[in-house]
Formats: sequence, C-alpha cells, structure tokens
Amino acid sequence: MSADSDAKKKRAAQAALELLADESIIGVGTGSTVNLFIDGLARLRHRPRRAVSSSETSTARLAAAGIEVRDLNEVRELNLYIDGADEATAARHLVKGGGGALTREKIIAAAARRFVCIIDDTKLVETLGRFPLPVEVIPMARTLVARELAARGGRPLWREGFVTDNGNHILDVHGLTITDPVALERELNQLTGVVTVGLFAVRPADLLIVGTARGVDTR
Ligand code: A5P
Repeated sequence: MSADSDAKKKRAAQAALELLADESIIGVGTGSTVNLFIDGLARLRHRPRRAVSSSETSTARLAAAGIEVRDLNEVRELNLYIDGADEATAARHLVKGGGGALTREKIIAAAARRFVCIIDDTKLVETLGRFPLPVEVIPMARTLVARELAARGGRPLWREGFVTDNGNHILDVHGLTITDPVALERELNQLTGVVTVGLFAVRPADLLIVGTARGVDTR
C-alpha cells in the first residue's frame, strides 16, 4: 500500500469511527481499510464490546483488540456494518471479494440495518468491472460456472491455491463492463454452483465514505 493510499484509507476509517454512537455490537468486514478501522477501535476508550466478523482474519484482529467476536446466529439486532470495497460507484453499488470474504460480507450486509462502506478515492468508478468480479463457487462446479461466465462475455480466472473460509473456490471474472449491476447480480446468483457473487447492488451500501487527499467525501 502506498503512503498516499494508506493516508486516504485512514481518513475513511477515522470517519467511520466517528459514526459510532453507543452500539454494543457492530459488524466488521475484511481488508486493509477495515484493518485500519479495527486498529482505531482498539484505541477508543468507549468502543463496542462485541462484533460479528466477515473473516477469520478480521476475527483474529478484533480479538487482539479486545473485542469479543460473536456468531451472527446469536445476534438479534445489528445496527451497523463497516466494510471496505474493491470498486464503488456514486450509486453505492460495489464490487467486493478481493480478499475472498465476499460470502460472509454479503450475509452481514443483509443482516445489518446500516451498511457503511469505507474506501479511498482510487476505488471510485463510473462503471463497475475494471476490478475483476470475484465469484465464490462450490469447488466441483468451478468449470461449469466458468463456462457460464465465459458465455456472458467474462474471462473467469480461478484464484488457484485460495480456499475461502467456507471451503470454496473463487473465480475472478475479468473483462466485464457492468452497466446494470442489479440485473447481473440477480442473474449470476441463479447459476447452479455459485455461492456468492461479489456484486453488492441489490443491497448496496447505505453510506459511502471516500478518503481523499484532502479529507473525506460522503455519498
Ligand atoms: C474482502 O473480501 C473485500 O471485499 C474487501 O472489502 C476489499 O477487498 C477491500 O479491501 P481493501 O480495503 O484492502 O482495499
């Protein structure tokens, strides 16, 4: 991560920390921007005591910060979820899953009343698709799904050697120009063998905090 990009991510993470009110539990995503958020949480005097986490990596970091990680099944209400993204549009549609945690991220986003996405301004795009779209698949369906994705104009590449926290594989789909993210998310969700599509458009972020060279923009 360059110093510039690190500073922008820190600004976005800091702005998310300032949104915290008196939540006793929050949802926490995965990635380098979220890591900065977790590090900030660790320094807060009044911080949420519990969290639900979207990955084993974030769980370990939260635990090291003294925050108890709960199973989502034990949580009745989740007001706030903080997570990063790999790409975002002004409409708050996202591509996520660069870190491979897309399935748990989508589950927590669905469970949360408010989903706040923190990014640096290099992630903002007019049209999604420059970042290869991650698709988590059941391992035995990998080539079947890859053929379906290729038939739709994408170039799926197996993220070889990577296994998700759920024991599945990831196809990174290159070469897509995603003009209708809601429709594409719905369509790809229907492919047999697909666990999760890394498009977050049917349930977009509620607030996008963009770290810039000067401060933060919110959308
Ligand atoms: C994790 O699977 C992703 O969805 C992350 O949210 C995304 O990769 C953002 O990561 P960075 O904050 O490291 O860019």
